Amino acid sequence: MNNGLALSPQMGWNSWNHFQCNINETLIKQTADAMVSSGLSAIGYKYINIDDCWGELKRDSQGSLVAKASTFPSGIKALSDYVHSKGLKLGIYSDAGTLTCSQTMPGSLGHEEQDAKTFASWGIDYLKYDNCENTGTSPRERYPKMSKALLTSGRSIFFSLCEWGQEDPATWAGDIGNSWRTTGDIQDDWKSMTLIADQNDRWASYARPGSWNDPDMLEVGNGGMTKEEYMSHFSIWALAKAPLLIGCDLRSMDKVTFELLSNKEVIAVNQGKYNIEKVLTTSESAHMKSKSGKSLTYLCSDKLGIQGKKVKKEGDLEVWAGPLSKKRVAVILWNRGSASANITARWADIGLNSSDIVNARDLWEHSTHSCVEKQLSALVEPHACKMYTLTRRKA
Ligand code: GLA
Repeated sequence: MNNGLALSPQMGWNSWNHFQCNINETLIKQTADAMVSSGLSAIGYKYINIDDCWGELKRDSQGSLVAKASTFPSGIKALSDYVHSKGLKLGIYSDAGTLTCSQTMPGSLGHEEQDAKTFASWGIDYLKYDNCENTGTSPRERYPKMSKALLTSGRSIFFSLCEWGQEDPATWAGDIGNSWRTTGDIQDDWKSMTLIADQNDRWASYARPGSWNDPDMLEVGNGGMTKEEYMSHFSIWALAKAPLLIGCDLRSMDKVTFELLSNKEVIAVNQGKYNIEKVLTTSESAHMKSKSGKSLTYLCSDKLGIQGKKVKKEGDLEVWAGPLSKKRVAVILWNRGSASANITARWADIGLNSSDIVNARDLWEHSTHSCVEKQLSALVEPHACKMYTLTRRKA
């Protein structure tokens, strides 16, 4: 969608996966606090998204949506002021139907312009727009109305379609939304996560800067999968240029969860950022020092925005890969079976020439294997993956 947003996939947090309807303004504020104090906001997680159940069942006498008095007594505007004061952005949820999916709030069908204006007046930065109670009308009629209403609301608002892949949104939502769900809801288990990864993969060719496939929010940290499974989940979502929306309780996140969610090298693949090392000129150096105080290494933006995909499958052993800028390639060796196994990506599998010699950066080990030729092989534990960025060496 051409609204200047989502040049890389959105990063942030959403309340649904962990809290469902048990939300209130204190939770949202504490989550914003934790996003900053943990260091995650500095890495790029900036949206704090309230999901379903934030409003009263009835509109007010003017027909406007109203925050639920018992759980959001200060109102959404006060909350957005708070979240903005932390340098973060606030997202909210509505539905392209008569009621939201929890059936505890009205949907926005038939009220698109009024609700978009309300959201804008509250300082909302992001709308997730669900698909329940939709009167059987095609999403291709209902979703463009809200897209247009947001564009004319007077505020720049990210538009996230949550149509669950019902009518192949990848084929039509790119012009009206910044992302679209390609699947049903994720569950916090290996079976659901792997199924969703595959369902989303079908639509890889439609992703582009401004418009991304959305295989649903992250379950990392919610306790239903092992560390290796969460590592696979996060790696595949990153490679697939999926939104990185954290779904756990940030206030009580453990060390392992933080380490997974904060891997800058994996996030760089998702966000299309890459490190360049450069000897700075004197004036560049002065500029960099005044901004950051250090470092000859800085992040450059990668405009490619190509979704990595499954390129090879032998039983439970898979290779996923995608091109990055500067002719680099991101690769995942993924063991979906229950025994350790060697997995090999041959250069032809991942878009390299047979004569290419690469440096392979292991994004989880943070180590580099120099001068790798013809193929990349590794022993991978059950349900785990290895993830690399391959950089071609100059001949
Ligand atoms: C649907 C969506 C979920 C969540 C719930 C809220 O199931 O797909 O992501 O927003 O509704 O009720």
